[in-house]
Amino acid sequence: MTKIETVTVEREGKVAIVTLNRPNKRNAMSPQLHLDMTQVLDELRDDDTINVVVITGAGQAFCAGMDLKEFFIKNRDDGAMFEKAFRASVEWRGRTLRYYPKVTIAMINGDCFGGAFSIVEGCDLAVAANEARIGLSEINFKIFPGGSVSKSLANLLSPRDALFYGLTGRPFDGVEAARIGLVNYATPAEGLRANVLALAKEIAAKDGAALRATKDGYRFSLEMSWEASMDYTLAKQDQLTMRQGGAWQDQGIGGFLDKKYKPGLSALEG
Ligand code: ACO
Repeated sequence: MTKIETVTVEREGKVAIVTLNRPNKRNAMSPQLHLDMTQVLDELRDDDTINVVVITGAGQAFCAGMDLKEFFIKNRDDGAMFEKAFRASVEWRGRTLRYYPKVTIAMINGDCFGGAFSIVEGCDLAVAANEARIGLSEINFKIFPGGSVSKSLANLLSPRDALFYGLTGRPFDGVEAARIGLVNYATPAEGLRANVLALAKEIAAKDGAALRATKDGYRFSLEMSWEASMDYTLAKQDQLTMRQGGAWQDQGIGGFLDKKYKPGLSALEG
């Protein structure tokens, strides 16, 4: 196995916290970081003890986007290396996160620029520190939100917000990120980790197969006709029944009928 140099993984119960770990470079994404994230996500994918993956950054930054030197300048004359790094960068932030079998949460602890938007969009949920500095800085250095970022903006933001921030390059904070729907909500930096871990643990306590089906049902239905989606979700329901051994009927509905709990108000224990 190759050595992971730029990412750390901690575990708290059924939650894995994946930290981009180049704080001196504001966690900018070097080619090595893309390879490391590819490997870390690959390993966690099959870990049955984990239901939720939180992605965050070490130090004061979440992620300052692509490592402008390592990614764009060093590889400038090496087309093959650029292709390799580019493919890895697009895959883990795009397809891998989008269709990941675990729930993913971006915890935006600080600076978040350019290519980091694709991490945020790839995750199912996102929470920012009020004080985070966030921006589509590309236009400020004569380029545009390319690679996977254009599509991330189109997926997540309103046309007005995407183009306003894409065209001005103005930085904004976590509160504004919540207003425009880039994140679910923002909270003071001081309590961010505790807040996100509480959310992650609340979700991680639910049934792993049902969490996965919730994601898949939403993500895949987006690209389907109504008919195809109905057929898909019915098949998905059979798959869930198989994966759980019928737990949603026996324990889930059974517990409600036995008056053990009310699913509208609380979750089934265990
Ligand atoms: N690529 C490479 N190195 C970076 C990046 C980056 N994206 N961001 C920061 N660094 C490095 C700096 O070069 C510096 O390195 P050095 O100490 O060896 O000189 C170190 O990280 C610290 O950066 P500072 O600028 O000194 O830190 P500060 O806290 O003042 O500012 C900020 C942080 C706002 C993130 C600033 O560094 C910045 O504007 N970075 C570029 C952000 C950006 O435009 N990202 C690219 C988006 S486009 C894309 O992703 C395709």
